[in-house]
Amino acid sequence: MERTAVYPGSFDPVTNGHLDIIQRGLKIFDHIIITILDNPAKQTLFSVNERIALLQESLKDIENIEIDSYNGLLVDYAQRRHANAILRGMRAVSDFEYEFQMALMNRRLNREVQTVFLMTGLRWIFTSSSIIKEAARFGGNIESMVPPVVQKQLQKKFAAMT
Ligand code: PNS
Repeated sequence: MERTAVYPGSFDPVTNGHLDIIQRGLKIFDHIIITILDNPAKQTLFSVNERIALLQESLKDIENIEIDSYNGLLVDYAQRRHANAILRGMRAVSDFEYEFQMALMNRRLNREVQTVFLMTGLRWIFTSSSIIKEAARFGGNIESMVPPVVQKQLQKKFAAMT
């Protein structure tokens, strides 16, 4: 039986840390569905369509993945897609409480859906979409932290705002 995981997130925008989790996740799962979902706590810089386009370009050489978006509960989506698991990356201890809470809430909502965590690669432990956006906004060099298309689009976005 094919093992499928949903890798959910805001992906605003996708970073090299996300790509690392996807590549390592593919060693465990046959198929990964990367799904953009709404995080009500975050105001996004890129629209859903822009984020999909950035994911498509960044992942164009990777097989056995699919990119999607969904408006609603993650566990409902996972069940609808017959996914065996939700895949999440865990960076430092600071991620733990939020991830723990979300995994337990998701389990309470649907006991059939398991959450699997992968430790983020050491290289990416201090990066996040938010901190990368902040650095890019003020002209910082983020070249080594995001795919080239993301770097380009971040520069374009912030140039249009000034
Ligand atoms: O990349 P993020 O912002 O940390 O991802 C969080 C996300 C989008 C996975 C989370 O907010 C989410 O699952 N949103 C959909 C609604 C939902 O099911 N929330 C969790 C249970 S209340």
